[in-house]
Amino acid sequence: MKALITGGAGFVGSNLAASLLAKGESVVVFDSLARHGASENLAWLRSLGMDHFIHGDIRNAFDVEQTVKSVKPDVIFHLAGQVAMTTSMESPRRDFEINVLGSINVLEAVRQYTPKTAIVYASSNKVYGNLDHLDLVEAATRYHPRDAQKGVDESVAIEFHTPYGCSKGAADQYMLDYARGFGLNTVVFRHSTIYGGRQFATYDQGWVGWFCRQAIESKTDPERAAFTVSGDGKQVRDLLHVSDAVNAYISAYKHIDAARGQAFNIGGGIENSMSLLELLLHLEKRLGIKLKYKHLPWRQSDQKFFVADNSKAERLIQWVPKMSKEQGIEDTIAWESR
Ligand SMILES: NC(=O)c1ccc[n+]([C@@H]2O[C@H](COP(=O)([O-])OP(=O)(O)OC[C@H]3O[C@@H](n4cnc5c(N)ncnc54)[C@H](O)[C@@H]3O)[C@@H](O)[C@H]2O)c1
Repeated sequence: MKALITGGAGFVGSNLAASLLAKGESVVVFDSLARHGASENLAWLRSLGMDHFIHGDIRNAFDVEQTVKSVKPDVIFHLAGQVAMTTSMESPRRDFEINVLGSINVLEAVRQYTPKTAIVYASSNKVYGNLDHLDLVEAATRYHPRDAQKGVDESVAIEFHTPYGCSKGAADQYMLDYARGFGLNTVVFRHSTIYGGRQFATYDQGWVGWFCRQAIESKTDPERAAFTVSGDGKQVRDLLHVSDAVNAYISAYKHIDAARGQAFNIGGGIENSMSLLELLLHLEKRLGIKLKYKHLPWRQSDQKFFVADNSKAERLIQWVPKMSKEQGIEDTIAWESR
């Protein structure tokens, strides 16, 4: 397989590149290195033998076109993006240009020069809006649906909230439409929380890594100022460890005939679901500390409950997540203690 990974120096991209290199596949990384930590990930990939890096901007049609024309990849894992809801509110235009224009640049380059190339795109659970139709119960540490259920499947109506939701959602729909209208081999993955090593988590994005870091720093310095939790902390996500995300990307390409033109919810599943409060309680117990934090108002359109129903992915691309949340959090603590 010859794989081109846009955003290949990012968190998910660098893990995917490392896994493909270990399998002896040919990997080309395209990245602007805009994200804090991307240069470190690139150096790590180079130490693993990755020798084809293209420093380019996904917004630049010429950069993308030249790359696709010269690399002629079998598959593009399109992961380059503006990744945070909060920063999309500060600059909706930048968010639009990176996520929508950047994705059109990828689609157009493939349509014109390498129409057989598969594209697997990282979309978001934000395409489902607030999920107001869920009948939620508020328990002591989390929200959960009144009726026991596996999670949210792909039949839920899409509704784009926030500039980030709009830009990820627009690109998501373009991906699907290029399969319908132009016969391209595109696949869409809708993720919520991905976590694990090589993520440079920030206040704006990567909450599992961010809170693990806050807890580790609180242990070293018990006098440290309180950190913040947006909303009541009972919002639930299913944690998808990056190793499972990587396997999903590879599985989509392996099963491209079944996957093409389809969107999949890809997450850790109900058994790996956790609220923010539950993560904080887990970290207090694990590290033997008492955490000091303050509540801030809810973030815009923060879903109270999102857990992916992975059934469609299991059926069509033979993928299920394997890493338990407990193991994954251990891995993240190790990474955040670096
Ligand atoms: N991590 C998650 O929890 C999560 C959840 C849902 C969706 N996603 C999506 O998955 C993809 C990968 O996420 P990640 O967590 O690895 O993010 P990341 O920020 O670590 O990686 C994104 C990479 O894209 C690069 N990039 C940014 N702007 C660029 C541009 N204009 N041109 C070229 N490269 C550019 C960055 O330098 C970075 O290396 C993103 O599209 C994100 O929206 C991630």
